[in-house]
Amino acid sequence: MQFYLLGYPLGHSMSPFLHQAFLSQAKLEGHYELKEISPKTFSEEVTRLKEMGCDGFNITIPYKVDILPFLDRVDSEAEAIGAVNTVVVEDDKWIGYNTDGRGYVTSLKYHFPALFTTKSRFLVLGAGGASRGIVHALNNEICDAITVCNRTVEKADALLESLSGSKQLAGISYEEAEKTLDMYDCIINTTSVGMEPHTRNQAISLKHLSKDTVVSDIVYKPFHTTLLQDAKKRGAQIHHGHEMLVYQAALAFKLWTGFTVDVRPVIQAFEEKLIK
Ligand code: ATR
Repeated sequence: MQFYLLGYPLGHSMSPFLHQAFLSQAKLEGHYELKEISPKTFSEEVTRLKEMGCDGFNITIPYKVDILPFLDRVDSEAEAIGAVNTVVVEDDKWIGYNTDGRGYVTSLKYHFPALFTTKSRFLVLGAGGASRGIVHALNNEICDAITVCNRTVEKADALLESLSGSKQLAGISYEEAEKTLDMYDCIINTTSVGMEPHTRNQAISLKHLSKDTVVSDIVYKPFHTTLLQDAKKRGAQIHHGHEMLVYQAALAFKLWTGFTVDVRPVIQAFEEKLIK
């Protein structure tokens, strides 16, 4: 079987490591290769891939939206998010999915199931691509308790308006979120604030954080972000968002092969690579 990751730049992508582990777990012969495509040749390269054929591919920054016109069909979740990270090839037809948000939520649910069995209030920091996937996936689990905080509040409003079944949800500013922080059961950073090399930056002040709140960060380089360290010092529970990468990959692999991966050993190996 032949799979690819399309993106630019791809640098030290962990996806080949993850998918190779899945292939050997599934006892399938196959390859997962990086296809770094410069924006100048995107259209040509995608057309060539269509001619060449493959069993499926992932698509990452900056092409999660640019791939849409090349698809024969887009599933409803990816359509609502407005971006695709996984393409399944079925009888030469390309079908687009988005497993990012669902991957994230699967990890959060694994570690903090109680967040999903009681009426929890979620605060999501950021309203960009990563946030869209996560907010839509959260909305599929719970309906009316998601607040999005963004520097540009209008962008947060627009994201919340795109949710199905949502009622009068509005975005808020960082100032407002900081003042009311103790209201939330879970705070999720989806911005790149705190990522290497600017590791001392923190998206939000946790002065009013409650000990009962779960603080989650999708930034995983460094593994212990300043936000998570601060939350831990204040006695709150923390969630490392790196597992999103493993779960989104496992969901893509299931779409391609039908095989359900046991993600735990793969997460362990991934963590060893991240922490060393
Ligand atoms: P991604 O795909 O990683 O989500 P994106 O779509 O470019 O990237 O979105 C980046 C998000 O991080 C946005 O919500 C952005 O806020 P604005 O819409 O107000 O620009 C947020 N972001 C980026 N840098 C930030 C910073 N220094 N402080 C707060 N938010 C930041």
